[in-house]
This record gives sequence, C-alpha cells and structure tokens, in this order.
Amino acid sequence: MLPHAPRAKQDPHAVPERSDFEADVLAGFAATPKRIPPKYFYDTEGSRLFEAITRQPEYYPTRTETGILKAKARELAGIVPANPALIEFGSGACTKVRILCDAVPGLAAFVPVDISGPFLNQHAAELGKAYPRLAIHPVAADFTKPFSLPPAVRDLSKTGFFPGSTIGNFEPEEAAAFLRLVRDVLGAHAFLVVGVDLVKDEATLDVAYNDAAGITAKFNLNLLRRINRELQGGFDLGAFRHRAFFNSARSRIEMHLVSAKEQTVAVAGRSFSFAAGESIHTENSYKYSLDSFAALARHSGWAAHAAWTDPDRLFSVHVLRAV
Ligand code: SAH
Ligand code: AVI
Repeated sequence: MLPHAPRAKQDPHAVPERSDFEADVLAGFAATPKRIPPKYFYDTEGSRLFEAITRQPEYYPTRTETGILKAKARELAGIVPANPALIEFGSGACTKVRILCDAVPGLAAFVPVDISGPFLNQHAAELGKAYPRLAIHPVAADFTKPFSLPPAVRDLSKTGFFPGSTIGNFEPEEAAAFLRLVRDVLGAHAFLVVGVDLVKDEATLDVAYNDAAGITAKFNLNLLRRINRELQGGFDLGAFRHRAFFNSARSRIEMHLVSAKEQTVAVAGRSFSFAAGESIHTENSYKYSLDSFAALARHSGWAAHAAWTDPDRLFSVHVLRAV
C-alpha cells in the first residue's frame, strides 16, 4: 500500500479469509481418498517430533546423509564459488548446515527457509551463537509458493542446499517444478546440493517409517492434534492408527492415518464421516535411483556436477549446476 493511500473501508459482511491450512484440510477431506499435504506436519511439535525421528536407530537417512556430507566436505568447499550466500530449503533444526559452515569458511550469509516459523527462529538464533560472524537471515515461508529472499543477499552469488530428501515428499512433477523455481531463485550457474533417499530393500524402508519407539506414529498423529487445536477439530487420537508401507510400484513410502472405527468428526464447522478402516493419506516419501534423480534434475534446468553415496548405497547427495 502507498504510504498516504486512503484506507479501504472495512466490509461489515466480509467473511474472514480461510487459512491455507483450513482450505487444504477441508479440500483434502472432501476428496477420495482423503488426504492432507505433508507440509502441515510441521507445527512446532511436528518439527520437534521430526528431530526425534532422526535420532531413531531405524531412521537411516539423517545419519547416512550426514556421513556423506562430512566425507565430501572438502570436495564440496572446492566446488562452491567464493563467498556465496547459502540458501537452505526446509532447514529444520539447522544441523546439517554446520558441516558446510565448517568446510566453507568464506560463507557470506545463510538464509534458512522453513514453514515452521517459531522453530526456525529458535534454531537460527542457536546457529548464530555457534557462528557469530555468519550473517543469518531466516525466512519463514512456504517454499512451494513464491517468496522473496532478504534484500541483504540479493546481489550475492547463491548456492542452494536442500538436504534430508525433503524433495521426496513432492510428487515427481512437483519436484521438477520446485527445481525449476529454485533455479530461478538462485540464478544461472548456481550450484544446488540436494539429498535424495535411494530405493532399497523393502524391510529397511518399512522399519524406518515404523520405528519401535513409535515416534513416527506420534509425528503422523500430531496432524490430528494440530487440526483439533487450529481448526476446532474433534478428532479422538485414540481412534486413528499410524500406517506406513513401501509402495514398490510407485517407489514411495506412503503414510496414512487409519480410522479404527466408523465415526463422524467435526472440523472447522463441517462434519466428515470415516468408515472403519478408511484412511487419510498424509505423506509420500519417494525413493529414487541415482539415474532417475539425475534425469529429473536434467529435465528441470540442472546439469549433474557430482553425485555421492555411502558405501551401502542407502542415500545420495547430488551437486547440480544451473544451466
Ligand atoms: N533439512 C532438515 C529438515 C528436514 S525435515 C534435515 O535435513 O534434517 C523437512 C523440513 O522442511 C521441515 O523443517 C519442514 O518444516 C520443512 N518444510 C516442509 N515443507 C515445507 C514447505 N512447503 N515450505 C517450507 N518448509 C517446508
Ligand atoms: C522430511 N522428510 C524427507 C521425511 C521423510 O522421510 O519423508 C519426513 C518423515 N516422515 C516420516 N518420517 C520422516
């Protein structure tokens, strides 16, 4: 709005705007099968539970990717151009970036982008205490929608960091669209470091999403708790079960919340019926091969510069260059 523009008169009959969360949950519950986009896992409790998942012995991706990044840190430092701003998409607890901060001492700035605002700000502040000379500019945003980078980094060369295989939570065509968007945000010739989980035996995948301590189940059920709190939901968390399995035909782990009985639940003033055994599809986590991911990147404006795996070929880190 211009500084002296007259204020628009408030319409007394205006209906308050729906939040994206409310609109997406209502649309997802009206669909068949019912679904909720996985980005809504991450309220502060969801972010905390994800961090707890990364510490479970069955959840191999985090420790494996961390091992690859540590082993390749020097090589990475030689690839990244001098004094870049590092932009991390879905930075969570800002843990893995510390490996890059230690390896690339000339980092000009760090921009962690995450949908989980208060969690992001807390962890960006902690990172700032550990790296007091690094300029940190957190951006609380949904990276599937257009967002602006802070003015302080607009004129710097940019390197992207997208670890954790968060790219696997997109449908493949959404992943391609996201890679194109990132290419536009980072600019020509930029590098992007992406962590991508690999296809492997079904048993290893299944236990990673069904840990014995039940933390992944809590993470999944926390979505219903969030709906209860933010959308005046009436879910009984004891009446839904966590279900995760590998769908080999689609090369993806699917997570669902399954209704243990026939029930009707109120959400945001509407009511939704669930048959016994009916599920809400809450997440896909696609698993790629080195070649299938390189092909996806190639079709999205990126050239493969390097690709690294661990000795057991559980996980991969790709370095891409914008063409
Ligand atoms: N990078 C960290 C965290 C991965 S968990 C790691 O590798 O361990 C996925 C992260 O992406 C979460 O912090 C979540 O809040 C964030 N995220 C998921 N969808 C998002 C979206 N649409 N926009 C912004 N952040 C998102
Ligand atoms: C963030 N993302 C890559 C995780 C995954 O493995 O798909 C989220 C997760 N869901 C269940 N466990 C972890």
